[in-house]
Parts: sequence; C-alpha cells; structure tokens
Amino acid sequence: MSKLLEGRVALVTGGSRGLGRAICLALAREGADVAFNYSRSEGPANELLAELRKLTKRAWAFKVSVLDKKGLNDMVRAIDEEAGGIDILVNNAGIGQVVPLALMEEEDWDRMMSTNVKGAFLTSQAVLRTMVRAKRGRILNMSSLAGVKMMLAPVHYCAAKAALKGFTEGLAKEIARYGITVNCLAPGILDEGVAVNVPDGKKAEYISHCAMGRVGTVAEVAEVVAFVVSDRNSYMNGATIVLDGGV
Ligand SMILES: NC(=O)c1ccc[n+]([C@@H]2O[C@H](COP(=O)([O-])OP(=O)(O)OC[C@H]3O[C@@H](n4cnc5c(N)ncnc54)[C@H](OP(=O)(O)O)[C@@H]3O)[C@@H](O)[C@H]2O)c1
Repeated sequence: MSKLLEGRVALVTGGSRGLGRAICLALAREGADVAFNYSRSEGPANELLAELRKLTKRAWAFKVSVLDKKGLNDMVRAIDEEAGGIDILVNNAGIGQVVPLALMEEEDWDRMMSTNVKGAFLTSQAVLRTMVRAKRGRILNMSSLAGVKMMLAPVHYCAAKAALKGFTEGLAKEIARYGITVNCLAPGILDEGVAVNVPDGKKAEYISHCAMGRVGTVAEVAEVVAFVVSDRNSYMNGATIVLDGGV
C-alpha cells in the first residue's frame, strides 16, 4: 500500500521535543521528507535528525526561532532550493507556563502570545510563497483544548490558543483559491511536552472528566496530523479538530 505522504516535503516547527518530535517521525514514516526547526535543544534535535534519516530520503534540522523573521526566510529558501518547495507546514512550536493571572507579568503575556501566535504568523508568511507558487499546500496549526473550551488553564495560554483558531479560519478563507487548506488541532492533555508542568490535581480532574479516563499520547495526535495534512483529506478547511478522549 502506498504511504500517505510519499513525495511530500513537510516543515514542522518546534520539532525537537514532545509533540513536534512525534509529528516529525509520523510524517517521515508516511513517506514525507521532513524539515524541522527548534530554538535551543541541540542534542535532542540532532538525535531526531539521525532517526529521521533512517526513515526518509531527506531530513533537515534548523536552529531558528519562530520569532526570527530573517532566519525563517533563510530556512525556507534553503529547503526550497534542496527540495523544490514545501507542501506541508505544521505550526507546532509553542510554550506553556503555569501562572495565575494575578501573578502574571506583562513579559509572560507577551512571550506566550509571541511564540504561540506571532510565530505561526511569521512561519506561515515565509512558507506561503512556495505554496502559492505551487498552487497547493496544507497548513496545520497546533491549538489546544484550552483554546476552544472552558478549562482550568493559564489565561495567556487559553488566549494564545484561541487566537490560533481565528488565525486558521481567516487564513483558510483567504488562501483556499491557491489550493491551500488550513486546519487546526486542539488536543487535550498529553503524556509529554507542556503538560508535564500541569499540577497533578489538575491532571486528575481532567482525567475524571474524560470519557476515556486517561490523557492522550503525542503519538496518537501525530497519527491524526499525518492524515489531516495528506491529500486524502481533501475537503476539510478552516476546521478545528478536538482530540481529547471525550471531555
Ligand atoms: N503537550 C500537551 O499536552 C499539549 C496539549 C495541547 C496542545 N499542545 C501544543 O503542542 C505544541 C507542542 O508542545 P509540546 O507539548 O510538545 O511542548 P514541548 O515539549 O515544550 O516542545 C515545544 C517545542 O517548541 C519549540 N520551541 C519553543 N519556542 C520556540 C521558538 N521560539 N522557536 C522555535 N521553536 C520553539 C521547542 O524547541 P526547543 O526544544 O529548542 O526549546 C520544542 O521543540 C504546542 O503548541 C503546545 O501548546 C500540547
């Protein structure tokens, strides 16, 4: 059976750890050539790159922040020159921070909104040129259950993740005419990544409200990503898909 993403080139932001890492591996297993960026974790990034190169013909890692506009443009140019375009963009890079509103500093708010929202804007803008030229593309933005449902989560995180839903819908409408679809995923609490800082009591409360009675895994979310960004998913656009085991 042919693989879902054979012949496709994907860029995953924040690929070095957690969910982004699982997404890179899932896309490569489905036949895509995978590029990813990260901001600091050089060791884990190199390990992932070596793993990806066992799975796919070509893989690239870039130490470039999603807030570095020039770095993003250089990265996209480098992938474009080697791979002849980017078919798939997963705007996954993000941060979390557990802090109540009363203790939140202005810098906390700005850092959260920048990394989670402005990062998706800058990366999408950098990649879109190649997709518009090709008249095809798939963009997937990583929101969170905290952005689409009332949850006990830090308000700057809720606001940033809700912004990605709006970003998805606006962009989907704007660029559908170029054959590009834009969708959004809203996972609940997962076994790795930002959720490791969620206090045990809050995790237990989440699990008690979840019909499946457990948190999700990054591998489960990555499998959904692989399908959503594939050509077999042809009529979904502007959608936000909730993946929470039934909360
Ligand atoms: N884990 C969950 O339970 C959960 C649930 C719902 C949604 N999400 C979302 O899933 C996404 C991934 O989160 P995660 O849980 O996997 O967190 P994570 O393990 O902390 O990984 C975050 C990734 O983003 C990268 N990153 C952070 N700031 C960056 C920047 N300025 N430029 C480039 N890369 C940057 C990190 O790179 P470095 O390694 O270099 O720092 C890392 O690769 C986030 O958008 C998060 O909100 C997670």
